[in-house]
Amino acid sequence: DMGQARQSIVMHRDVADGIVEMSVYAPVVAKAARAGQFVRVLASEDGELIPLTLADWDTAKGTIDIVIQGLGTSSKLINLMQEGEAFAGIAGPLGRPSQVHAYGADETVVFTAGGVGLPAILPIAKAHLAKGNHATMIIGFRSAGHLFWTGEDDRMGKLKAKYGDQLDIIYCTNDGTFGVGGFVTGPLEEMLKDGKMSKGRKLAEVISVGPPMMMRAVSDLTQPYGVPTVVSLNSIMVDATGMCGACMVPVVREGKNVRMHACIDGPEFDAHTVEWDKFMPRFNQFKAQEVRSLKEHGL
Ligand code: FES
Repeated sequence: DMGQARQSIVMHRDVADGIVEMSVYAPVVAKAARAGQFVRVLASEDGELIPLTLADWDTAKGTIDIVIQGLGTSSKLINLMQEGEAFAGIAGPLGRPSQVHAYGADETVVFTAGGVGLPAILPIAKAHLAKGNHATMIIGFRSAGHLFWTGEDDRMGKLKAKYGDQLDIIYCTNDGTFGVGGFVTGPLEEMLKDGKMSKGRKLAEVISVGPPMMMRAVSDLTQPYGVPTVVSLNSIMVDATGMCGACMVPVVREGKNVRMHACIDGPEFDAHTVEWDKFMPRFNQFKAQEVRSLKEHGL
């Protein structure tokens, strides 16, 4: 676990503006990893713990793949690390794995992800595909200049080549410079209005990973239609130890108000049980603190 072995970076590549993808030698984590889980990374002995979703893993090579967006202080510092350098520690896999139900041939599981939500949602989509489920992935980016993994030789292209008709991919950009113009909620709303169907398949479940604003919008959309919806609240975690309280999620369970922690009880939650009105202001407050921290570190 933490500090046990010095995990070194075996691959480092810039995939888009401020977004870095790394393969890290961490065979124990790779062996135990399941879709939906994350790791806690310590860049240096005196650094901060940061939680990162597992984008992929390779048990044969003993590597895990992580994607870091240089938004916070610690993530920016991690992005500056290069091939051959090592993390002080990587703990994991952590969090509850995704529940992958089996659905019929006339059903589809819809995945919506924005930006760095894509690396987080990819293993979950792969797990569904491997189980034989049909998947519809709606992936949003800010603009054509911010795309990553979409090329034929890249991760999404390879996934499509492997699964063919079992997988539909819809790309969206906020400014319409690539794929469908607008947010990922656009195509989803069309499907819901179209009798909860996509290309003749019934929406069995919606799984969403991305900025809290997006996940809330998805949740609000699907709720009146009664389509089961799962959100992965990994983006709100700070230390992922259950101590900082940043990841508190107010939910309603069996008529009772309950406080859950994304890092311990999640990261996945039934979106329709989350009290979004209470949750969003908390999230924005922690974001403001992170901006202050960035300024203090001159990043
Ligand atoms: Fe700090 Fe969950 S991230 S308590």
